[in-house]
Amino acid sequence: MARPFDQPKLIVASHNKGKLVEIAELLTRFEVETVGADALGLPEPEEIGETFIANAELKALASATKAGLPALADDSGLAVDALDGAPGIYSARWAETANGRDFDFAMHKIEMALNQAQSQNGDIARTARFICALSLAWPDGHVESFEGKVEGSLVWPMRGKNGFGYDPVFLPLGGDMTFGEMEPAAKHAMSHRADAFSQLVEACFAGYGA
Ligand code: IMP
Repeated sequence: MARPFDQPKLIVASHNKGKLVEIAELLTRFEVETVGADALGLPEPEEIGETFIANAELKALASATKAGLPALADDSGLAVDALDGAPGIYSARWAETANGRDFDFAMHKIEMALNQAQSQNGDIARTARFICALSLAWPDGHVESFEGKVEGSLVWPMRGKNGFGYDPVFLPLGGDMTFGEMEPAAKHAMSHRADAFSQLVEACFAGYGA
């Protein structure tokens, strides 16, 4: 059984403002006070793990053990089947350019890699999934981790200006709009982050505040 969360305060171990807001919003119904790792001056550890869960755990544990408070961290990305799961844990890195992160560039890179795979292997699948790992760590080193996903396929050219990252090329399974075309609330209801979050809530927050 997972360890229940029963503390009044929780660190959100992310230095990304968008994620801080999104995670704080998901937690509002529990009336837990959230504080960002930045605000506590906590360093951002290097993501040296080889899986989404390993990276989420190392981020959550670094904050929890340093600050003496429980901490929640996430790690996410896009896995493309025909590219053996790439860009995967390197999803942010695939967007690095000399002038900072550029996801148009990263989406073109994926399309080029798919074209190359197609010319080498003939017909290829364009299936892909977004994956999100969430880890909740306690100062004593205990950690609970959950992995959520959303299945879909990649379209080309890009469609839509909503969302972020790889959203304009991701068509969720059974849908006709990319994440880039969908209203944010519709995406958030079915996303990999929502899936991981509902697993976390069921396992660790079920009795919170009761
Ligand atoms: P990290 O979790 O901060 O290491 O980076 C995850 C990267 O995966 C982001 O920079 C995005 O490129 C990509 N990613 C994760 N979730 C989403 C999503 O919901 N939509 C689009 N791209 C995403």
